[in-house]
Amino acid sequence: MKRVVLVTGASKGLGKGIASLFLNEGDIVYVNYNKSLDEAILIKGKYPNARIIKCDVTDEDQVKSMILKIKDEEGHLDVLINNAGICMDTTLEDKTKENFKKIIDVNLIGPFLVCKYAKDIMDKGCIINISSTNGIDTYYPYSMDYDASKAGLISLTHNLALEFAPNIRVNAVAPGWIHTDMNKDMSDEFKREELKHILLNRFANVEEIANVVYFLASDKASYINNSVIRVDGGLK
Ligand SMILES: NC(=O)c1ccc[n+]([C@@H]2O[C@H](COP(=O)([O-])OP(=O)(O)OC[C@H]3O[C@@H](n4cnc5c(N)ncnc54)[C@H](OP(=O)(O)O)[C@@H]3O)[C@@H](O)[C@H]2O)c1
Repeated sequence: MKRVVLVTGASKGLGKGIASLFLNEGDIVYVNYNKSLDEAILIKGKYPNARIIKCDVTDEDQVKSMILKIKDEEGHLDVLINNAGICMDTTLEDKTKENFKKIIDVNLIGPFLVCKYAKDIMDKGCIINISSTNGIDTYYPYSMDYDASKAGLISLTHNLALEFAPNIRVNAVAPGWIHTDMNKDMSDEFKREELKHILLNRFANVEEIANVVYFLASDKASYINNSVIRVDGGLK
């Protein structure tokens, strides 16, 4: 049976990869975008079962409207994937309070808001939060704000699992490095250093993370709950 799926930040990168996988499998997918309208339109053009939906996940009114639209059109939501995220890597000296708050706003308060309002239209299914190994144990002072947001998202996942039990499973996926725009400015030197710590000696493709998300949302993962699944190629 077709599921109703919402993927936040699905216009690009990992979110687009996750949305495309569910769309290919025939689900109805709400492809949330914020700024990248053109990319969202391309996804809509490719998949008739894609519904594109503009929403800045940091804006409570926009989140409410997004959930209301899904309620009006489909009546319910089966799978929620909180994927939208940003990072702003800089030296400590260049970090500002405003940018730190912006990262927490998108990466942590955004998922909180979407879950808060989605609860009204979810009576079964699952929630998957896209965290990061940076939220567990791979730390970079340049991304201390991002790392804190992703650690917070893991904490939020555990509390949401309690809140949404017993009919809705809540899990987090913690990827390592993925080939996406988020890393487009990474220097070759930094990348070479990072590869030294990855047993598979490469970054993940979007599909390799999307496959894990898809599995977690399936009945085959029916007893996986309140867990953080790391997908990082093996760190050494
Ligand atoms: N890339 C990695 O190495 C890596 C590793 C671990 C975890 N992750 C996590 O994976 C997720 C996806 O990252 P990515 O690499 O695919 O990044 P990306 O290519 O930069 O894409 C980010 C997505 O988030 C959306 N977004 C940003 N701010 C938003 C907001 N306020 N409201 C709604 N959507 C918003 C963007 O939408 P618009 O363009 O439409 O604004 C875009 O679709 C993030 O949570 C990231 O932290 C990434």
